[in-house]
Amino acid sequence: MKVFEELWKIYTTQNPQVQQIYDLFTAEGEKVVNDHIAFRTFDDPRIDINVLSRPFIEAGYVEKGNYIFEEKKLVARHFEIEGNPEAPRVFISQLETAKFSPFLQSTVKSWIDNIPEEDTKADDLIFKGNPWNKPSFEVYNRLREESEYAAWVYVFGFCANHFTVSVNYLKKFPEIAQVNAFLKSKGFLINDSGGEVKGTPAELLEQSSTKAGIIEVEFVEGKFTIPSTYYEFAKRYPDENGLLYGGFIAKSADKIFESTNYYKHN
Ligand code: NI
Repeated sequence: MKVFEELWKIYTTQNPQVQQIYDLFTAEGEKVVNDHIAFRTFDDPRIDINVLSRPFIEAGYVEKGNYIFEEKKLVARHFEIEGNPEAPRVFISQLETAKFSPFLQSTVKSWIDNIPEEDTKADDLIFKGNPWNKPSFEVYNRLREESEYAAWVYVFGFCANHFTVSVNYLKKFPEIAQVNAFLKSKGFLINDSGGEVKGTPAELLEQSSTKAGIIEVEFVEGKFTIPSTYYEFAKRYPDENGLLYGGFIAKSADKIFESTNYYKHN
């Protein structure tokens, strides 16, 4: 699907770190296969999971799983093409805004009100980022007090939040821990919330991720550097029928979400 190439172009332009990591693996002779991509949004029916998943449904994707993140007040669904395990899965989450303060709710509502209706109806919404709302650094920080996720969507909008290297296809790095060690040796930071490796072989899915790359963003108040997007790594194990597990583990994904949490860089 061309969609993935376009999303990759935007993703690597915004966060050059992911292209560097991709190039490190290919320089080692590895084939980099994309396990899944993810989007984040709010639960407003104008831009919710139903809206963002539409271009994928039209391309033959079907919903295969749904997930609840109580503490973060999020829900998510994942989509895949049945019978084509090599097609990247699509994971889309949305914030349950009614569970937050009136400040967060009104901020999100006016953020969405600024999106032209025709953009919410178009299949290219997933490429748009956030061209309609110049973010305020003060609002970003206030949103972070309630939800790092809300603050991230407020700034970055619609784009691939991450791509995911399928570790199953790597030859020199068959274990997630080896991937992490390799990246750390090259100076990249690994998200260690909940441990560097999330999930276990018994859960049929192990994952890790970089900490989001720090980039400069133009806010109303001026330019500030904040975490943007990250790269994820996933190793899937066969289930009792011998088929590679295709879903996600909410407990692990909960910690992976924290890859975009604010942090200060040196
Ligand atoms: Ni993921």
